[in-house]
Amino acid sequence: MTVTDGIEPSELRIDGDRLLQRLAGLAEIGAIAGTEGCSRLAFTDADRDGRDLVVTWMQDLGLTVTIDGIGNVVGTWVPDGVDPALAPVMTGSHIDTVATGGRYDGNLGVLAGLEVIETLLGAGHAPERPLAVTVFSNEEGARFPPDMMGSLVYVGGMAVEEALAVDGIDGSRVGAELDRIGYRGSAPSPGLTPHAFVELHIEQGPVLEREGIRIGAVESVQGISWTEVTIEGQSNHAGTTPMALRHDAGYAAARLATRMRELATELGPPQVATVGAIDLHPNLVNVVAARAVLTVDLRHTDDAVLTEAERRLDVELEAIAAAEGVSISTRRLARFEPVIFDPTVVGLVEATAGDLDLSTRRMPSGAGHDAQMLSRICPSAMIFTPSRDGISHNPAEHTDPDDLVAGSDVLLQVMLRLAAR
Ligand code: GLV
Ligand code: MN
Ligand code: MN
Repeated sequence: MTVTDGIEPSELRIDGDRLLQRLAGLAEIGAIAGTEGCSRLAFTDADRDGRDLVVTWMQDLGLTVTIDGIGNVVGTWVPDGVDPALAPVMTGSHIDTVATGGRYDGNLGVLAGLEVIETLLGAGHAPERPLAVTVFSNEEGARFPPDMMGSLVYVGGMAVEEALAVDGIDGSRVGAELDRIGYRGSAPSPGLTPHAFVELHIEQGPVLEREGIRIGAVESVQGISWTEVTIEGQSNHAGTTPMALRHDAGYAAARLATRMRELATELGPPQVATVGAIDLHPNLVNVVAARAVLTVDLRHTDDAVLTEAERRLDVELEAIAAAEGVSISTRRLARFEPVIFDPTVVGLVEATAGDLDLSTRRMPSGAGHDAQMLSRICPSAMIFTPSRDGISHNPAEHTDPDDLVAGSDVLLQVMLRLAAR
């Protein structure tokens, strides 16, 4: 390793002000007025503008920027004297948000990656391998399912053509939207296999804050099951139709939503169940609803329990169809098994945080992340920083600047150590 200006590489720290400035600059794009939050659904104009800004920053740092067929943007730095054929240590995350999102979810991981490279460039320190920062497309899946679409394509878990053909909640299609924003590139999928992958992300839950711990060494990600349920009933007059004669899709949807809460209670933690979207038709005060389209999000760390939750969902759908005289169809939007991260990389995150005098604990992730896809092809893990009040997917999402900087310092040192292996 080179030693610059008398500073050991292990003493290098990122520039916190520069990181915070970039976070604030990106957060101006799609800013939700009167809040700290952002609205940059995947492949919208706001997503394009955010990408343009990050690509400019990558180019300013002299990175080689490639874009693949689903719009994943990879910025690679090959330091002088390093063999460009060596697999890079990769970091990254996403900059798309849910429609009512915060400014840190995903964005932190991408911008901290840039900050790691800028810090090393500034110090004149060359790691032993190339470093890469990736902006993965459509991590949220809120507009186009599934979530983690870009990283799933990157690792070869979904064909590009299949991803491009996905229809969104607003009737648009991935391929057309990607072309429209100018981010359908020519780099191959699956992408290059990194030497290792590590992602910095806010926790998005309450654990670290509650325990007063600065850094989470993420060991696993729970399994995810998304189902879209369409209930077809019969619209009729709200005043004249006796209750016993109704085929009320709105009632059936409400019963299902209530039942999902009960299901989570029956299975117990860490089972979670969410009905986050309900669309009624014709959605009028005096008309019994003819159709309901709703989503069910089920998650658990144990795939056997998650499968049992899915079975109970099916049982409930049959019961509702029979009781209400409605017909029900389902469509699987996402299904990912729980993921266990590489123990060596997890240990490295934990040890590095300790070396930086930061309190740390091992923990699972409740949210889905690009790192869970990368773990299919290379040793991977994640670094978590606390979230105020455990709030995320909400414009009020917040992480203290000190924690953003501490997490980025851990990322810097973990990437250096991975590059040295
Ligand atoms: C993605 O952010 C998810 O966990 O839903
Ligand atoms: Mn995220
Ligand atoms: Mn998210």
